[in-house]
Amino acid sequence: MSAPKAIVLVTGGNNGIGLAACQLFATQPNYHCIMGSRSQEKGQKAISSIQSSTPGAAISLVQLDVTSDTSIAAAVAEVKARHGHLDILINNAGVCPTDFSRSTLRDCLETNAISPAMRWAQSANAAIRRTKRTARTTKSTRMSKAALNMLVACDAWQYEGKMKVFAYCPGYVITDLAGQRAEKEKAGFAKSPDGSARGLLNIADGKRDGENGMFLHDEKAGSLYDCLRMN
Ligand SMILES: NC(=O)c1ccc[n+]([C@@H]2O[C@H](COP(=O)([O-])OP(=O)(O)OC[C@H]3O[C@@H](n4cnc5c(N)ncnc54)[C@H](OP(=O)(O)O)[C@@H]3O)[C@@H](O)[C@H]2O)c1
Repeated sequence: MSAPKAIVLVTGGNNGIGLAACQLFATQPNYHCIMGSRSQEKGQKAISSIQSSTPGAAISLVQLDVTSDTSIAAAVAEVKARHGHLDILINNAGVCPTDFSRSTLRDCLETNAISPAMRWAQSANAAIRRTKRTARTTKSTRMSKAALNMLVACDAWQYEGKMKVFAYCPGYVITDLAGQRAEKEKAGFAKSPDGSARGLLNIADGKRDGENGMFLHDEKAGSLYDCLRMN
């Protein structure tokens, strides 16, 4: 008896890299590929092109706009009803706007970063039975700070020779952020804001100019927190 096929869903599967991935997965003996497409029409056209070049390709279509919770919920329900589970999710759908404004940035983050987080949360709930780790409510902050780090890299490049730009992580510091003062005091390894302030002064004094455009951690470079211990 042959092993059951792994179920793989490719978002934005109607075009470009997603389409190539759908074509490839659908023609492997051990996969069934679900093409996610926000446009039913474009998706159907892409599926037909795969089927005409490879008769018997294991492919099906699900309507999926990654920025719509309603669309995500409907897609999850459809996959569950048809296949019972999902083995692999390829978060391929993405945009790359070439202008820069508040609304463009919002739209871009919505599609490229927020949507994979939401979609993952939904399909993970459907697919994974147990995890010892609970979702950190600070996931949004962490994602937003990753975006901020990239802004620093871009600005340092853009303003090179005119201005210095740094990303500065103040450390794991006892403050009121996220209502965690008591938890941090108890942890034993969280620090006082005074050290963070000294780090800022060092940057302002030019002591870290050699690290322009970089992610600076704490008062001096090189010391990293143990992320697993913090979780
Ligand atoms: N091409 C590159 O050189 C390159 C390099 C690095 C990373 N990437 C990444 O690779 C991924 C695919 O890019 P690509 O080059 O194949 O681009 P593409 O040809 O423009 O394809 C993008 C796909 O994403 C879909 N999409 C966009 N917004 C969506 C939404 N809200 N919901 C559902 N689907 C949506 C598009 O659907 P529609 O047809 O309906 O618009 C399309 O199917 C992106 O995440 C991109 O950032 C590409």
